[in-house]
Amino acid sequence: MKYIIGNWKCNPETVAEAKKILNGYAKGIKKNAKVKAVVCPPFCYLGLAKEMLKGAAALGGQDCHWEAKGAFTGEVSAPQLAGMGCGYVIIGHSERRQKFGETDEMINKKVKAALAAGLAPIFCCGETREERIDGKITDIAEIQIKEGLKDIDLDTAPVIIAYEPVWAIGTGTACSPEEAQVVHQFIINITNEKIPLLYGGSVDSKNAVSYLQNAGYSGLLVGGASLDPKEFAGIVEAVKII
Ligand code: PGA
Repeated sequence: MKYIIGNWKCNPETVAEAKKILNGYAKGIKKNAKVKAVVCPPFCYLGLAKEMLKGAAALGGQDCHWEAKGAFTGEVSAPQLAGMGCGYVIIGHSERRQKFGETDEMINKKVKAALAAGLAPIFCCGETREERIDGKITDIAEIQIKEGLKDIDLDTAPVIIAYEPVWAIGTGTACSPEEAQVVHQFIINITNEKIPLLYGGSVDSKNAVSYLQNAGYSGLLVGGASLDPKEFAGIVEAVKII
């Protein structure tokens, strides 16, 4: 199974725009047995997405708290996401790590909470530009995976890993399939071959296929391009032939 997962981040600004995008998804994404399309909108649009997508894509959250409920103003929990129809949740995105101070320990608790709620965590890892220049490319993925996925049985838990080099996110400078392939091989070596491993960072309908065909990835985490339903549906179409 190939995964094409859209991460809308904190977009769009208005309900009217969200409806337009969701309408485009519902009309444009052709269902097929080989590709699982998933969309992760902001929490406030989950109900709308569930209603409007009509099964064109599955639903995921962009984060979750590690407790199931309680006095955590502003947080959304994994069981709450599951109750809204989510099957997936992005955890440990570099923007959460860098802009909101999430640590490997917090991320580990979130992954466990997601699994306990029956969600498949989409666990993100990847190096910054400085770390890459320092030659610490696979080292960063290794630490993040070891700490973030600590005490989780990767042979049985439905964890998805997304390699997202931070310098390639939202920059238009995607990692080359050759460079991405090196990290793919490394992650498979330290986890197992069954784990769905996604590439993310400036993916569009033109470069999408290369990460699956040339670098061995089993899917893509798509940010900016997922806000354009034609682009997103185009990526789903492009990868189904592989
Ligand atoms: P991008 O974002 O596709 O806009 O680079 C990817 C992501 O942050 O998941």
